Amino acid sequence: MLRRTKKPFYGLVALASSTIATVSIFVLAILVFVFYSLVLGILISLIALYSLATYLIPIYYINPLKSIDLSHMLTLEGSELVLDVGCGLGRATNGAAKLLTTGKVIGVDIWDKLEIPGNSPEKAYRNSEIEGVRDRVEFRYGDAFQLPFDDELFDVVICAGLLTSFRGDQEKVISIREMRRVLKTNGTLLMREPINKLRTILVLSPSIYLIHMPSKKHWMELLQHSDFKNIEYFPHRIAGSFKTIKS
Ligand SMILES: C[S@@+](CC[C@H](N)C(=O)[O-])C[C@H]1O[C@@H](n2cnc3c(N)ncnc32)[C@H](O)[C@@H]1O
Repeated sequence: MLRRTKKPFYGLVALASSTIATVSIFVLAILVFVFYSLVLGILISLIALYSLATYLIPIYYINPLKSIDLSHMLTLEGSELVLDVGCGLGRATNGAAKLLTTGKVIGVDIWDKLEIPGNSPEKAYRNSEIEGVRDRVEFRYGDAFQLPFDDELFDVVICAGLLTSFRGDQEKVISIREMRRVLKTNGTLLMREPINKLRTILVLSPSIYLIHMPSKKHWMELLQHSDFKNIEYFPHRIAGSFKTIKS
C-alpha cells in the first residue's frame, strides 16, 4: 500500500496581487475584443496569458513545499536564539530551526492574509510539526516596525521577503533598525529579498508593479544607512541574501 507523506506548504508568492492584475487584463481583453478591435483583443489576451503563467513560474523559483536552506550562509553552534521577522508560514523559521539543537527560533508576523492566503500561526506550527522542528520554534504576533522584544536579545535575526512589501525606503530602514536594536552586539543579520533585475521582473510580473523592489546596490545602501558595515552577499536566482554583523 502507498504511504502518503505529509508535506509542508509555505504559500504562493504574491497570489493576491497577481490575481487582481490577471483578472483586470482578461476583462480588458474581452472588452476590447467585443467593442473595439479583434486584433488588439487577441494581443491583450496574450498578455493576460503571460500574466497567468507568472502564477506558475515563481513556483519553480520559490518552491512552496520547501523551507529555505540557510546552511551555506549561517554557521551556528546550535544553542542560539534566532528571530525571524515576517515569518509567514515558517519558510525561513524552519530553515533556521534545522540548524539548531538546544536553541530556538521565534517567528513574528502580523499574519497578513493578502500576502499569503491562510497566513496564520496555526498553519506555521503545522509546517514546523511536519518538518520535525516543532520543539525549536515559537510563533507570535509582532510588528516589524515595533518588535515586541528588549534590546540586544537575539544572536541571529533573519527576514525573507518582508521588506519588499514596504513601499518606501524609509519604512525599510525603520524595520532594519528595529532588527538591529534587538540583535546582540556581534550578532548576525541575514536578510533575503528579491533583487531588481531583468529575470526577477519577467518572473514576478505583473505583481512587480505592486511591490517596491530595490537593486542589489540599493539594498546594500539601505543596510549601510541602518549602520551595518561589511555586508556579505549570496546570490540566488531571483533573490539575494545579505549577511552582516552588528558591530
Ligand atoms: C512575502 S511574505 C514572506 C513570508 C516568509 N518570510 C516566507 O519567506 O515565506 C511577507 C510576510 O511579511 C508579513 N508582514 C508584512 N508586514 C509586516 C509587518 N509590519 N510586521 C511583521 N510582518 C509583516 C506578511 O504578513 C507576510 O507573512
